[in-house]
Amino acid sequence: MSVEPHYLQTAEAYLRALERCHVRGEDLAVPSVASVFISRWDKAAEPPHVVYEAPGLPGCGLPWGLASGYGGDLGFVAPCVYGNFVASLDGVVALGPEYRSSGSAISQREPADRFVMALLRAMADAVLIGAGTLRATPAHRWIPGHVWPEGAAELGELRRRLGRSAEPELMVVSARGDVPLGHPAIQSGAVVATTTAGARRLDRRLPSSCTVLALGDGPALKMADVIAALSARGHVLVLTEGVPAW
Ligand SMILES: NC(=O)c1ccc[n+]([C@@H]2O[C@H](COP(=O)([O-])OP(=O)(O)OC[C@H]3O[C@@H](n4cnc5c(N)ncnc54)[C@H](OP(=O)(O)O)[C@@H]3O)[C@@H](O)[C@H]2O)c1
Repeated sequence: MSVEPHYLQTAEAYLRALERCHVRGEDLAVPSVASVFISRWDKAAEPPHVVYEAPGLPGCGLPWGLASGYGGDLGFVAPCVYGNFVASLDGVVALGPEYRSSGSAISQREPADRFVMALLRAMADAVLIGAGTLRATPAHRWIPGHVWPEGAAELGELRRRLGRSAEPELMVVSARGDVPLGHPAIQSGAVVATTTAGARRLDRRLPSSCTVLALGDGPALKMADVIAALSARGHVLVLTEGVPAW
């Protein structure tokens, strides 16, 4: 029986991810083996497999090392809001409340996913997340170096060349103002976009490195108001790592 090489590469990538989970002492139960297995397909082969890319997209002139890892150049025309989330090829993006972080469970922290995540963060003026994402990942920082530490210097250099600040600014959206005050991403400085009631709840409780923006009296914010607030802070390239429904 002959086996296509990319099937073997896919299986090996999947097993490597499981081994890394095992070493970290994590639960190896996966809810949908088919989903996770299939999701490895696009990363196992070199260069990455592009499902679709519109012709004539801009590029920023990525240095060779980054361009070869990504499979080409990458760029955005401002103003632009772009998203990043992981999905299996059969479309699974969220696994349910028993999984604290569906993204990590689906990607199995695959290095190829983390490289792309870091690169997309490195291109952004700001990263936008929901408070649920913040609460679900208590040690995370939404900066390129957190997900790809070995490439932090290279991505820092890219940001300097593109005229960006050292790190993208983090904006957290919370209707209730339910923000974990000790979270390292909050301690390092973030903008919290919330309702009037949420701002009252947070009043003077956040570190001085943070900014609270009250953007409406209703039970939830309009995303157009959130994007306008980012724009008012000078952020024209915004990466959302919010839920895929946004
Ligand atoms: N596949 C992926 O890559 C990926 C990525 C991210 C998440 N997910 C999954 O998606 C599912 C849902 O995630 P999540 O609930 O953590 O989502 P989330 O959007 O990160 O957090 C939801 C919270 O964000 C705030 N929020 C969202 N929209 C708002 C609005 N319009 N106005 C004001 N506040 C707003 C609310 O915060 P308050 O409660 O503080 O008011 C809300 O409870 C989970 O299963 C998660 O694991 C998957």
